[in-house]
Amino acid sequence: MSKNYIIYTYGCQMNVHESEKIAGILSSKGYTKCDKSEDADVIVYNTCCVRENAEQHAFGNIGMIKKLKKQKKDLIVAVCGCMTQQGNFAEKLSSMFPYVDIIIGTFNMDKFGEILDKKLNSKKRIVEILDKNRPICESVKPLRSSYPNAWVNIMYGCNNFCSYCIVPYVRGRERSRTLDNVLNEVKSLVESGYKEITLLGQNVNSYGKDLGDGTSFAKLIDEIAKIEGKFRLRFMSNHPKDITEDVVKAIANNQHACKSIHLPVQSGSTRILSLMNRKYTREQYLSEVKMIRSIIPDCALTTDIIVGFPTETEEDFLDTMSLVETVGYDGAFTFVYSPREGTKAAEMEDQIPAEVKKDRIMRLVDLQNERNRVDSLKYVGKTIEVLIEDYDQKKNAYMGRDERGRMAYVEFTKNIVGKFVQVQITSTGGMSLLGKVVKVEEEM
Ligand code: 5AD
Ligand code: SF4
Repeated sequence: MSKNYIIYTYGCQMNVHESEKIAGILSSKGYTKCDKSEDADVIVYNTCCVRENAEQHAFGNIGMIKKLKKQKKDLIVAVCGCMTQQGNFAEKLSSMFPYVDIIIGTFNMDKFGEILDKKLNSKKRIVEILDKNRPICESVKPLRSSYPNAWVNIMYGCNNFCSYCIVPYVRGRERSRTLDNVLNEVKSLVESGYKEITLLGQNVNSYGKDLGDGTSFAKLIDEIAKIEGKFRLRFMSNHPKDITEDVVKAIANNQHACKSIHLPVQSGSTRILSLMNRKYTREQYLSEVKMIRSIIPDCALTTDIIVGFPTETEEDFLDTMSLVETVGYDGAFTFVYSPREGTKAAEMEDQIPAEVKKDRIMRLVDLQNERNRVDSLKYVGKTIEVLIEDYDQKKNAYMGRDERGRMAYVEFTKNIVGKFVQVQITSTGGMSLLGKVVKVEEEM
């Protein structure tokens, strides 16, 4: 009888792709994906500790599996991802959830298959957490589940130590994959029909620096430009201190690259940026934006913003609000600051009360939503190219995005997932767009 697995993923895209790799390992061992915990022989929790809510969510869900584990003695429960890499995590987990069978860290996730075999032959819990980087493992083949998009890691880890962020502690220092390895993966994905490639790294602008052979992010973009076929290229995340004219020009000259850049600002106050150890001022950030727009005039910009960083005053917050208005973002991921144990900011005095943080995030979200709503109206009557990503059962419509990342819904009689379609926008649904298909890829 076939054995089943289910993976629960918390946190960012990076983790979604890590889960695709675990799925790859499990499927190579003969396991099949299932949709319910009750049907699973192996349950994996791929956790994230970057923000408190993702962490609490994972803890809550691991707690809920106790009942099933009691009924199904052979069920294997595994916990991996960056939560496991924190100092006292294994002890905390052992005392709270003694029924967890495997705890594995971020640096040896590629060993999941071997660790699972070991567990199947032993009654004891297996805890394997390394505190050091290992050479990048190139042998795990991800089982991708986000067609027509494919995620491609170009580097792992981060050297920046922003004072609020736990990533450098739990994901280690920057390690880049070789240019050849990345290019070969991108080429084979395009050949097998993927239509959108998203390059992943905590700070893609420093890609290649650690290799010491002249590899750079701009060079990678230029090499990807040479790949034939129609596909979109996206990448994340950028650090404003490292994005250079070279990179922006490489994007401008690359027919595949979406003219859209994710440029996390985090705060609009120079004082807070300095406490965050971001290494740029408000003015420097705004001049990066100017530089980008002088090279790519209609470039879409998106960002990440944290509100309620320790000591943030109303005035600092208003600086963030005014920066958001000045830049005019196409989208913003907004977060309430949460102290992460072991980071500098968690030790700072003057943590901001929860109700103040809540008030600020609501005002910020309202501001950005209003901008998106007004921006959406400008699309009405226009025809845009949309890559169809999925069928939305609730809306009874296909969903896709334009180059800028704007979501559009269309009705269509045939399956058009993975197709580039020309869509005439007829109306807006809040922030998203509604339209009708004018042309499908093959007919173009
Ligand atoms: N609290 C809130 N948001 C955080 N981020 C990272 N660490 C924290 C934290 N401690 C946000 C940043 C980053 C995004 C991935 O998560 O905005 O860009
Ligand atoms: Fe965290 Fe800063 Fe590195 Fe991004 S650049 S992962 S926010 S330390």
